[in-house]
Amino acid sequence: MNNICVTGGAGFIGSHFIEFIQELTDSKIIVLDSLTYAADLNNITQNSQVEFTWCDIVNEKHVNYIFNKYKPTKVFHFAAESHVDNSIKNYRPFLESNVIGTINLMNASLSVNIEKFHFISTDEVYGSLEYDDTQLFSEESQIDPTNPYSASKAAAEHYVKTWNNTYDLPYLITSCSNNYGIRQHKEKLIPKVIINASNNKKTFMYGGGEQIRDWLHVVDHCRAIWSLEKNNIINDKFNIGGACELKNIEVTKKVLDIMGKSHNLVDVCFEDNLVSYCRPGLDSRYGTDFSKLNNKTGWKPVAIFDHELELTVRWYCDRLLK
Ligand SMILES: NC(=O)c1ccc[n+]([C@@H]2O[C@H](COP(=O)([O-])OP(=O)(O)OC[C@H]3O[C@@H](n4cnc5c(N)ncnc54)[C@H](O)[C@@H]3O)[C@@H](O)[C@H]2O)c1
Repeated sequence: MNNICVTGGAGFIGSHFIEFIQELTDSKIIVLDSLTYAADLNNITQNSQVEFTWCDIVNEKHVNYIFNKYKPTKVFHFAAESHVDNSIKNYRPFLESNVIGTINLMNASLSVNIEKFHFISTDEVYGSLEYDDTQLFSEESQIDPTNPYSASKAAAEHYVKTWNNTYDLPYLITSCSNNYGIRQHKEKLIPKVIINASNNKKTFMYGGGEQIRDWLHVVDHCRAIWSLEKNNIINDKFNIGGACELKNIEVTKKVLDIMGKSHNLVDVCFEDNLVSYCRPGLDSRYGTDFSKLNNKTGWKPVAIFDHELELTVRWYCDRLLK
């Protein structure tokens, strides 16, 4: 049995990916995670196929030790500091985990002759679309990050391509849009609104909540990653989107509707109820063109947003009642 390595497997998307691939692969899944505040070990079902091993990817020696021990054939690299607000307060963990951590993993991957290093990136590397842009982000769009989180992911993308060019690392980059689903950390929009609303607390929306995001169900994301694996595609980059552009305020109101709560629980204004407070580096709109992936593998998102959102809200509400 060969080993594949999933980093960040105790986080939101990584844990779904592990769950998703278990029935699809005979490989042993080695999960690397340093269990930051965003992780939850309960997210991973450990069994004979899934082995968790604590590892901070910033620690080069430890990464090398683990790769030498397990000799994985493929790496799916999800581990990252992922919250933009935190990156604005302190860029350093983002630089360390998202850039240095990625380089450490790539070097260790080269030492075991890896077959594929798959880097999970974000549509945020492209910066922002205008509200009236008709062209969505494509793989050819300019990399133009606007906050320390997206800068760290953009830098890592450049390093991945460079490690391919310089050291022949077999790589894949996928840049996905906003994921949603169960098990997401409470700092992210949907869980935050649910938790606030369940306490009848208002959720403050930056910039009036007018920003548009493209919502991708986390299981659709996992299917997309696996469609590339099944088709043995390497040394390329693909965008993954949900074909579901919605304003943050619309998503928030949908959550409140599902919970039977008043829209008064959205706080869009600042001080005099006229001025909206905007966070620095707050992009207006993300929209993802995933036609390249669709042409190559046939993948397209299938989740119906309203339905999956309802299931997600119910999942959190059930847990909040316990
Ligand atoms: N959530 C989204 O909407 C979204 C959108 C686009 C891209 N992404 C990317 O997808 C990946 C996964 O995102 P997520 O939402 O699951 O994030 P998350 O914050 O829920 O999980 C990240 C995981 O990485 C681990 N980690 C962080 N630093 C580490 C380190 N130094 N060593 C080892 N483990 C470390 C954490 O403990 C956590 O388990 C990230 O690379 C993120 O940039 C996420």
